[in-house]
Amino acid sequence: MSATGLGIDTTFDDTSVSVLRGKREILANLTLSQYKEHEEFGGVVPERASRKHLEVIHLLIDDAMKKADIDFTGIDYIAVSNHPGLLGSLLVGLSVAKSLAYSLGCPIIGINHVEAHPYANVLDHGEMQFPILHLVVAGGHTLLMHSRDHFDYDIIGSTIDDAAGECVDKVAKLFGFPMPGGPVVDQAAMEYSGNEYDFPRPLLNKNTHNFSFSGLKTAMLRFKENCMQSSSSGPEKSDTLYETGPVLASFFQSVTDVLLQKTFKAAEEYGLRNISVSGGLAASRKLRKAFEEESSRRGLKLYYPQSSLCTDNAAMVACLAAHRFEAGLFDDLSLDAFPNLQ
Ligand code: KG4
Ligand code: ZN
Repeated sequence: MSATGLGIDTTFDDTSVSVLRGKREILANLTLSQYKEHEEFGGVVPERASRKHLEVIHLLIDDAMKKADIDFTGIDYIAVSNHPGLLGSLLVGLSVAKSLAYSLGCPIIGINHVEAHPYANVLDHGEMQFPILHLVVAGGHTLLMHSRDHFDYDIIGSTIDDAAGECVDKVAKLFGFPMPGGPVVDQAAMEYSGNEYDFPRPLLNKNTHNFSFSGLKTAMLRFKENCMQSSSSGPEKSDTLYETGPVLASFFQSVTDVLLQKTFKAAEEYGLRNISVSGGLAASRKLRKAFEEESSRRGLKLYYPQSSLCTDNAAMVACLAAHRFEAGLFDDLSLDAFPNLQ
């Protein structure tokens, strides 16, 4: 009979608990977002994030167990993201996971949250074929991973400054939108062509698989400042000289072009015919369409999860752990939390 795992993810500002049977059968996958809790501060406050995880995690576990309709004797292992993320937040999930593993006498499996993102595809579409190139576009990370098998991969590109998701959130904020910025920017990108303005496409033509998005963010800031100056010196003092929608659409066209072209260039260089895209920013309809069109044009196999599995969730964490469980790769109660990618 297949093993059943309880997954916990408290890496950043979402508390998520899942119950997974086997590698793909999601019995429960519940996520509570804290965005509203941090809105008044204009960004996630780490101390507040850990407190909020602490307030809800036990209730969420109870709800997930009820939804899954099993009791704790039916749990074979506990999966928990132990890196990367906010240390205080990670420690909440890890402490709860350790207590559960200890009291149930079952194995604990520590998971790299970023490595788990591509497993949303396994939940959605079944096993991915190796070798594969994973593009992970999460809020805090933008990574290209060349994966030869489960647990066997090299990071061949990452961001040297801001992640794409972070840049999108910051630019949305610059134009007056609350966190998370991704949905509003994606909406603009679906409504407008994205060709109205020509914003920079950082590192696009450089001989590197790394990314850089902070220059694009600064370009957006300069654009806005220049428009404001021109409008206040004009006779009628209109508020702005631009419409936000086309500006955000053009900005996201730059982000999309960079992600798309660098991913396919890396796939070509490494001779990879399988590509996966995952992470919160992958919930973008614009990005999905761009990757679907380009993969089909090149005849490559694309794995792209449904949007609800792109954003942070504990089912992807349990899914990676299910593969580790099968391979007998367990941790023990000395498992620690690490803020950085290990
Ligand atoms: O993977 P994720 O949920 O969290 C981290 O691991 O950091 O990614 C969060 C990112 C944020 O930048 C957020 O704006 C973006 O995902 N996002 C979206 C959508 N929903 C969340 N981007 C585009 N379209 C969405 N619907
Ligand atoms: Zn994530």
